[in-house]
Amino acid sequence: MGLNEYSYHSLANMGPQGRWRRVLLVAMIPMAFALVYYSYPHDYMSTRFATSQYPQTQNDSLDADDVTMPTIIKALYGPILHPVDAANFTDEDGDVYRLHGAPKFTQKLGKKVLILDIDSRSLTGEGQLMNKNLKWNRMRPLSAGMLSHYMFAQIHGYDYKFVRAPDYADRWGTWVKVPMMKEALKTHDYIVFMDSDVMFHYPHLPLEWLMNYWNMTDDTLAMMSIDPNEPQNYDMKGNRYLNTGFVIAQQSERTQEMYKSWAECPSETRYPGCAKWKLDWAHEQAAFGNYLRYDYDRPDDIRVLPCVEANGAPEAANRGGCKGVFVRHFWVDKGLVAKNLADQVMQYFLPRLHQLYLSTAHEHIVDAKGYRLDGADLIEMTEDEKEALRKEAGKNQKDEGF
Ligand SMILES: *[C@@H]1O[C@H](CO)[C@@H](O)[C@H](O)[C@H]1NC(C)=O
Ligand SMILES: *[C@@H]1O[C@H](CO)[C@@H](O)[C@H](O)[C@H]1NC(C)=O
Ligand SMILES: *[C@@H]1O[C@H](CO)[C@@H](O)[C@H](O)[C@H]1NC(C)=O
Repeated sequence: MGLNEYSYHSLANMGPQGRWRRVLLVAMIPMAFALVYYSYPHDYMSTRFATSQYPQTQNDSLDADDVTMPTIIKALYGPILHPVDAANFTDEDGDVYRLHGAPKFTQKLGKKVLILDIDSRSLTGEGQLMNKNLKWNRMRPLSAGMLSHYMFAQIHGYDYKFVRAPDYADRWGTWVKVPMMKEALKTHDYIVFMDSDVMFHYPHLPLEWLMNYWNMTDDTLAMMSIDPNEPQNYDMKGNRYLNTGFVIAQQSERTQEMYKSWAECPSETRYPGCAKWKLDWAHEQAAFGNYLRYDYDRPDDIRVLPCVEANGAPEAANRGGCKGVFVRHFWVDKGLVAKNLADQVMQYFLPRLHQLYLSTAHEHIVDAKGYRLDGADLIEMTEDEKEALRKEAGKNQKDEGF
């Protein structure tokens, strides 16, 4: 059955919601073909066209009639999810990251993990997440970030929540994330809080793998990345701040205690001088950096992540090498957030589209190289003519040919 017949048949059976389902279906077709592609040898393809094998790690079975968005996400990412207990991970530059010991997490954690967005604003303006008419080309950076967090949760089966937080009457807005994370740690074993300009660079790399790699132990309260080596990022004792824009925290009594102390820091009952950070930059981050980290200083309490792996972006690599290998933080340029959401899709969509293109090459690649052009005519070449042609290959062309 040809592609056209297939689409026609399916569209004819569509109900009243056919219009949007059609769009999804059209998106599904290349994916479905790409899946089929894995199962058959394709000897009609000359070796000239052979692609490198896309590293499939899982077999996913999809219901052919199910064209819902969760299935589309599953179709795109499911086959190549990185195993949670893999001994290593090779990034897009070919750099290999290895576990330092046996993995702590060998099973998926699923809904024990909460991916958490927190905001006290309504976000209903144009290009914002809660506006019904969100368009790609007008999207504001925050929307792209939060949608990326949601997609990450969907891919791995984690829980996702967006919490509309109340404001503190007398503190800068970002303080609200402290009590909100504390609440979330009552319902979930692990939470991942990200500012909306933070995202995972490899959506197929599970959190469990990262927690293995970053040595999460039973006693770890939280993991945060260190900030770049710049003067404004130092606390009063001369140590660099931990960035509170990306936090992995683990449920425990001690974690609850730490968050309580943190949220109550500006009351100064425990930490004299902390009230200053209610409104002064860097707000809750400065409170954590100046007080909490020195109070919660058992070896495993706070895991400090390297800036190069969990902070910054390649565009900020000249700021202390913080290039965000695993977790990107776009303080360098918020305009990069939407571009990187696109990367999170295109990194995976492109190889599949390309495989489809090449695997069906016999349907659409026409080889007219055996002919020569004469005015408007194509004239089949003799063997001698072909041989002569080979000698002057590329004469009137340049690479890419534009
Ligand atoms: C997927 O299924 C095929 C056929 O059953 C099998 O040969 C292959 O090893 C499976 N791949 C994985 C990653 O499980
Ligand atoms: C990564 O680990 C796998 C086994 O888990 C191994 O086969 C592979 O060689 C390793 N890759 C590198 C680059 O170390
Ligand atoms: C994890 O432990 C290894 C080995 O002790 C160490 O080299 C590495 O820096 C640790 N990673 C973090 C993020 O603490």
